[in-house]
Amino acid sequence: MRILVAGGAGFIGSHIVDALLANRHDVFALDNLSTGRKENLPAKVPLIVGDVRDRERLKSAFDEVRPEAVCLQAAQMSVSRSVREPTYDAEVNLMGLLGVLENTVRVGAKKIVFASSGGVLYGDVFAPAPETTPSNPISPYGISKWCGELYLQFFAREHGLRSVALRYSNVYGPRQNPHGEAGVVAIFAQKMLAGQQVVINGDGRYIRDYVYVSDVARANLLSLERDLPETFTAINIGTGATTDVNELAEQMRSLCIETAARLGRKVAVPEPAHGPERAGDLRSNLVANAKARELLGWQPTKSVRDGLRETVDWFAAQT
Ligand SMILES: NC(=O)c1ccc[n+]([C@@H]2O[C@H](COP(=O)([O-])OP(=O)(O)OC[C@H]3O[C@@H](n4cnc5c(N)ncnc54)[C@H](O)[C@@H]3O)[C@@H](O)[C@H]2O)c1
Repeated sequence: MRILVAGGAGFIGSHIVDALLANRHDVFALDNLSTGRKENLPAKVPLIVGDVRDRERLKSAFDEVRPEAVCLQAAQMSVSRSVREPTYDAEVNLMGLLGVLENTVRVGAKKIVFASSGGVLYGDVFAPAPETTPSNPISPYGISKWCGELYLQFFAREHGLRSVALRYSNVYGPRQNPHGEAGVVAIFAQKMLAGQQVVINGDGRYIRDYVYVSDVARANLLSLERDLPETFTAINIGTGATTDVNELAEQMRSLCIETAARLGRKVAVPEPAHGPERAGDLRSNLVANAKARELLGWQPTKSVRDGLRETVDWFAAQT
C-alpha cells in the first residue's frame, strides 16, 4: 500500500515508518521537523518537509504521494504548551487534522489511522479503562484529541472513510522526545546517564501504563492493514500493567548503572530526590487492551524492564 505518515520524522511516527517498510509498504513521510528529525528516517523514505496547517503544501503533498492510506502522528503533543497556547494547539491538532482529512478524502485514500491518547481522554482511572469509559479531557490537548476523534467519526459517516483512532497510553522508547506524554523516561535516561540527580514530583506515586514504541508501531501497522467491522473504531493501545514513578526511577537507575559499567563509563548515578507535586498530574492512568487483542490481534510484546533497557542503551549511544 502507498502510505503517507504525517509526523513520520517524529518519535512514534519514525517507528511506524520502520514497521511499514518491514512489511513492504511504499512509505512517504510528511513532517515540519518542529520536534521530528530527518535522521530518524531511513534514507530511502521520501520526506516532504511541510506543515499540516499549510493548506497549499498539504494539497501538493497529497497530489504528489496519492496515498491509499494515511497515518496521522503529527501533532502539538505537549499538554503544558496546550495550556499556555490553546490556539496554537487547536491550529495544529484540529485545523491540521481537518486539512489532512479533507485531502485524504479528496485523493480517494480509503483509510486513516489517527494518534489519540487514552491518558488525556480518560483522566484519573484506577483500573484499566475500556474504550467505553466516558471522555473527560481537561487540557486543551485532551480536548483537541477528543474533537479529533469526533471529526474522524464525521468523515467516516459522511465519506465512508475508514478511520481508526488509536488511544495510546504512555509511549516510551528510542528516539523519544522529553516533552511528550511519557517524557519522564527520556528525561530520566538523559540525566541519569550524565550522573545527574533526577527529581521526582511529589511522592512519586503516580501510576502509568508504559507501552513500548515498537509495540505501538505494530498496532498502527495492523490498523492500516486489517479490515475492521465498523467504519470508525477507537482502540486503546497499552499494556494494562502498572508502574509508578518511584518504580520507574528505581528500574532506570539500576539499568543506567549497568549500562555505564558495561560501556566503561565512570558515572555515579545519585538516588532520586523528591520535589513539590506538579499541579494537574493524574494519580493513575491505565488503559484496557482487550479490544486491541480482539480486533487487531495485537498484544504488547515488550516487558517494561526490557523496553527500558533498550531505551537506556539507545540514549547511552547518543552521548
Ligand atoms: N508519546 C506519547 O506518549 C503519546 C501518547 C499519546 C498520544 N501521542 C500522540 O502520538 C503522536 C506522536 O507523538 P510523538 O510522541 O511521536 O511526538 P513527536 O513530537 O516526536 O512527533 C510528532 C511529529 O509531528 C511533527 N509535527 C508537529 N507539528 C507539525 C505540523 N504542524 N506539521 C507537520 N508536522 C508536525 C513533529 O515534527 C514530529 O516529527 C502525537 O499525535 C501525540 O499526540 C503520543
